Amino acid sequence: MGKQKSKFVCQQCGYETPGWLGKCPECGTWNSLIEELVEEQAAAKHQGKRLFDRTCTEPQALAEIDQVAVARLDLGMSELNRVLGGGLVLGTIVLLAGDPGIGKSTLLLQAASYAAERLNKVLYISGEESAQQIKMRASRLHLSSAKLLIWPETDLERIEQEIKKTEPGLVIVDSIQTVFCGELASTPGSIGQIKEATARLTALAKSLNLPVIIVGHVTKEGSIAGPRVLEHMVDTVLYFEGERHQQYRILRAIKNRFGSTFELGVFEMQNEGLVEITNPSQAFLAERPVSSPGSVVTASIEGTRPLLVEIQALVSHSVFGQPRRIATGTDYNRVNLIMAVLEKRVGLNFSQQDAYVNIVGGIKIQEPALDLAIATALTSSFKNRSCLPGLLVMGEVGLTGEIRGISHLDKRLHEAKKLGFSHCLVPSGRENRRQFGKEEGLEIIEVKTLREALDIALV
Ligand code: TYD
Ligand code: MG
Repeated sequence: MGKQKSKFVCQQCGYETPGWLGKCPECGTWNSLIEELVEEQAAAKHQGKRLFDRTCTEPQALAEIDQVAVARLDLGMSELNRVLGGGLVLGTIVLLAGDPGIGKSTLLLQAASYAAERLNKVLYISGEESAQQIKMRASRLHLSSAKLLIWPETDLERIEQEIKKTEPGLVIVDSIQTVFCGELASTPGSIGQIKEATARLTALAKSLNLPVIIVGHVTKEGSIAGPRVLEHMVDTVLYFEGERHQQYRILRAIKNRFGSTFELGVFEMQNEGLVEITNPSQAFLAERPVSSPGSVVTASIEGTRPLLVEIQALVSHSVFGQPRRIATGTDYNRVNLIMAVLEKRVGLNFSQQDAYVNIVGGIKIQEPALDLAIATALTSSFKNRSCLPGLLVMGEVGLTGEIRGISHLDKRLHEAKKLGFSHCLVPSGRENRRQFGKEEGLEIIEVKTLREALDIALV
């Protein structure tokens, strides 16, 4: 028997064994043994860490460290660049995760084609589609570049060799689940394989100062063998989300070592690929029914940008003993809490009512500043009274029914003005008043309690 190349390590207690076992004999955990390479992987990991800055061999005083501006690669779409923190940083590894079919390959093909025009070469490695399939997609997107190299390959060894030989300016690996390392016995897509491939690609990215984007599918189980295990290994994690049957797609940074994680990019899936939505507030409000009970507009802050969204609620008599509560695009527990506050502090009786809350456009927002709008939408539908036309509602709802202050009021008000709103309900208080900008033609109405807010908002 030759030299042993891989071992199985328990992720719970660190127990090592040469063969796979369903249960760890040390700690008794099931399915916790993951295959790892004996020496190569260790080498790749160390290399990855050491190669950040080889010139720095001793500890340095913080004050004496020179700050160098990081070089960033423009990927053509401003929404994508902004989520990355102003472009893709050279020598970093980015994970683009999302459900299958959401548009990851489309987004990356568009970005790769743009970058190829400005760089020497871009290498697009696809383990999911053949070169012909990619060509078909490219024709549909009207993309054709002589410097964009398409390569259907899954062998990690060959991928590494090709990258070293071709010296591309950008590498895309679609997807990491298909990459296969021959030294490991486990099948492609298993955690051991994914971790090994990512570690080796990271080491390569650092040593060649090459940006690498890897695609990761979110599996049905969510975490197992999915991109979650990679989050700590890469520099940036982007999630591409949205409802597949809706046209909007949201790109969000979950982790970013070179930028903010609150930024959000909005795209629309059209016949000619993904189109950036540079004014998402306008897009999200485009089909809004004015003066319909249950529809309320609010302003959220995503990263540095305000976003106006429509909140819809439907409250209807329940035919079942247990009323249904459904929240789409926002926190289910928060909706329940707001309903409890409405029952107790405003005296609405939802005990026989089903309630559905939806943020229009397939976007997900968790901000507490949405509370008042959710409460207003629920009450509006329940009482069948529509919201005042031209009114925007924002504020956090406290458990005693008070309206609490929110951040970046000035930015939100400015966006409201820009989109033609005439009145704004905002939390009262000195701290908030300081945030008011001078928005001509926008009437600002301060409210202290939920009851007061609902009296003003609903006609
Ligand atoms: P794709 O990029 O293949 O998704 P992923 O790589 O995340 O699995 O995109 C899949 C969907 O996008 C597919 O259902 C077809 C649709 N689509 C369009 O609507 N317009 C287009 O121009 C393209 C290329 C795809
Ligand atoms: Mg794909």
